[in-house]
Amino acid sequence: MNILAIETSCDETSAAVLKGGRIASNIISSQLIHQTYGGVVPELASREHERLIVPVVHAALEQANIKKSELEFIAATAGPGLIGAVLVGLNFSKALAFALRVPLIPINHIEAHIFSTFIDDGSASIVNGLASSHDGSQKKFPSFPFISLTVSGGHTMLAFVQEDLNYQVIGKTIDDAAGEAFDKTGKMLELGYPAGPAIDKLAQTGDARFHLFPQGLTKHASGDLRFENNFDFSFSGLKTAVQSYLRDKSTAFVAAHLADICASIQEAITSVLVAKTMAAAEKFGVKTISVAGGVSANSGLRKKFEAGCRERGHALFIPKPIYSTDNAAMIATLAQLKIDRGHVEPHGYDVSAFSSFEPRLTL
Ligand code: KG4
Ligand code: ZN
Repeated sequence: MNILAIETSCDETSAAVLKGGRIASNIISSQLIHQTYGGVVPELASREHERLIVPVVHAALEQANIKKSELEFIAATAGPGLIGAVLVGLNFSKALAFALRVPLIPINHIEAHIFSTFIDDGSASIVNGLASSHDGSQKKFPSFPFISLTVSGGHTMLAFVQEDLNYQVIGKTIDDAAGEAFDKTGKMLELGYPAGPAIDKLAQTGDARFHLFPQGLTKHASGDLRFENNFDFSFSGLKTAVQSYLRDKSTAFVAAHLADICASIQEAITSVLVAKTMAAAEKFGVKTISVAGGVSANSGLRKKFEAGCRERGHALFIPKPIYSTDNAAMIATLAQLKIDRGHVEPHGYDVSAFSSFEPRLTL
């Protein structure tokens, strides 16, 4: 089966081809224009998608060595995301699907993150880092049921995923997303945009115990993580805490302790993510954990999850960093899973884009 997938939900213009069950190309063009503004400017993102979509799609087809006439399905992000940005990719896909007389599969991009641990690019194996398993069984993909943590710039969500692509959202952020917590606190430290990767890099040489920042919605801010079935997250308190912590610090102090401050911020964000995911696994009696979304590229978070899963004998699946942030390979992969399970309903070309998250696998 040959699928072309397109993802334009935020500031990455991406196209991928899935051929015979495997990713044959995955082109991602990250829009650098937003760095000047310290955040994504929606109107500029839409215009950049307009400019990039044709060359990116051509590059994906060329790299996969496939002609447009060989495509059997077009899959595209229909939401959630910046509505203008989503519309560029979705409308392009509608036009292409119509011209080629092939079905259009609209995809919820957060659901694509959830199932991004099913991406198979041929090199995908546990040992080379697509996924790691600590239960001894060298499985390539998560087995159902599993707990999924999706942590991106716009979303933080815990889900219990059952067989057949059914899932139940069991927790989400009540304010900022985990990625936003990295980006906003990083902005206070003048680390540019997005600040997640910069904090990650600096944290590697810092002391995570340098300062104890609050861990949202945990029973004790002291680090003793106990919850009463509360799987929601909150990161706005951390943002305020970092702001007031920095208020009376000199520039010299911040410069001298930048790595320590970054490590402490990262500790506050990642500890709560890992602890709540583990607590959810326990509550639902699940032994498999899947972590996805841009923040899952964070090396500190990966280490914590690896240690936690090893200790409990859980299998852990995290996509390669290239598949953690927004990419069309995950859109193609979810489209394939839906086709395999007969979840694809015939769609008209009147499917609309949506901006905020609601579970809707049957779009
Ligand atoms: O999934 P994604 O590419 O886009 C959204 O759907 O939001 O996630 C982007 C987010 C940004 O907030 C970025 O700072 C964060 O992922 N991110 C990281 C790392 N790499 C990307 N956060 C922490 N550590 C990283 N290494
Ligand atoms: Zn995303």
